[in-house]
Amino acid sequence: MNIQSLKNTFLEKYGKNDNKISVFFAPGRVNLIGEHTDYNGGFVLPCAISFGTYLLLRLTNEPEIEFSSLNFDFSTKIRVENLGRKMREEWINYPLGVIDQFAKHGTELKGVQFLYYGNIPNDAGLSSSASIELVTAFAFNKLFNLEKNLIELIKLSQKAENEFVGVNCGIMDQFAVGKGKKNHAIFLNCSTLDYKLVPFKLDDYKLVIINSNKQRKLADSKYNKRVSECTKAVKYLNNRLNIKNLSELSIKEFIDNRGSIPDEIIMKRAKHVVSENDRVISAVEALKKNDLITFGKLMNASHDSLKIDYEVTGNELDTLIDEARKIDGVIGARMTGAGFGGCTVNLLKTDCLENFQETVGKNYYEKTGLKADFYFPEIDDGVRQLG
Ligand code: GLA
Repeated sequence: MNIQSLKNTFLEKYGKNDNKISVFFAPGRVNLIGEHTDYNGGFVLPCAISFGTYLLLRLTNEPEIEFSSLNFDFSTKIRVENLGRKMREEWINYPLGVIDQFAKHGTELKGVQFLYYGNIPNDAGLSSSASIELVTAFAFNKLFNLEKNLIELIKLSQKAENEFVGVNCGIMDQFAVGKGKKNHAIFLNCSTLDYKLVPFKLDDYKLVIINSNKQRKLADSKYNKRVSECTKAVKYLNNRLNIKNLSELSIKEFIDNRGSIPDEIIMKRAKHVVSENDRVISAVEALKKNDLITFGKLMNASHDSLKIDYEVTGNELDTLIDEARKIDGVIGARMTGAGFGGCTVNLLKTDCLENFQETVGKNYYEKTGLKADFYFPEIDDGVRQLG
């Protein structure tokens, strides 16, 4: 994106004043493996991608915060004393939630003009929301010289989503968007926030994201349902054990104690989480050995577990995966993100790319009536100032 043309648009919208316009960028993310483990204190392996959210902002002398976006028609101006209330327009609640967190942490709010532009498809499971949150938190912190560190900004952004937006998400998305590193995956322990950057060398393979374009209106309520099913599993298991979350269990401990879960569905949810943590550890080992074939097999196993035990895939994502796996040269394919629609992530030989795109696109359309979009992102750095 051309920064100068964004600055010109900013000036057209808000006019001139004596203060400087600053420009920031936060990426989206794709999760390679470790799905629905973060809010269970488990392991994840996401990377930041080259699509993201640009934010231009400038101080004003009026006690008002102005928001606009090049992606949505809606723009608004709110007096600082009236901030803290959720609005009907969805996207605005992400920056409002972040500003609300700053206010709760004692920041005295002053007038600011915000202009957003994003190129992450909405509702595709590539973390457009975490990207808006982090870019807002990072820019706000700089603009007001608040000196919060990146981990504090990541936690604050997650809290904004939990408390203001109302999605009980874990910390994976905000962490990946904040701490991403070019050509690396982030191996994160969501209990301790210890993390390692693992080089992700693709050589003659390619990472392809496919958007199912399946609308997922109920995603958030179904997501919160999975969160509470995991809490129930912990409660049942604690009739015999003393654990805080499912990720404290090894596969053996889970098998030895699963009899304490009387509900078959809750048992399946817990099985996914425990087995997925194990797959993340194996996937990191495979990456360290540059063994993409094993890595791909683990991606496949992850999808199958999300389909059968966690039940967050659905016909569209499963069709994309079935069709992808039929193509010679595809070594791994799974859904990525919350599920219920959104995207898949695929690992394939570069020389089968053309056939892959054509055949999967055609067969997906024939089977679902939906057009799939294909993205070829680079693995990128985390949130940053551009100017
Ligand atoms: C969404 C949430 C994340 C994580 C994933 C599933 O992206 O925001 O915290 O739970 O779903 O792995």
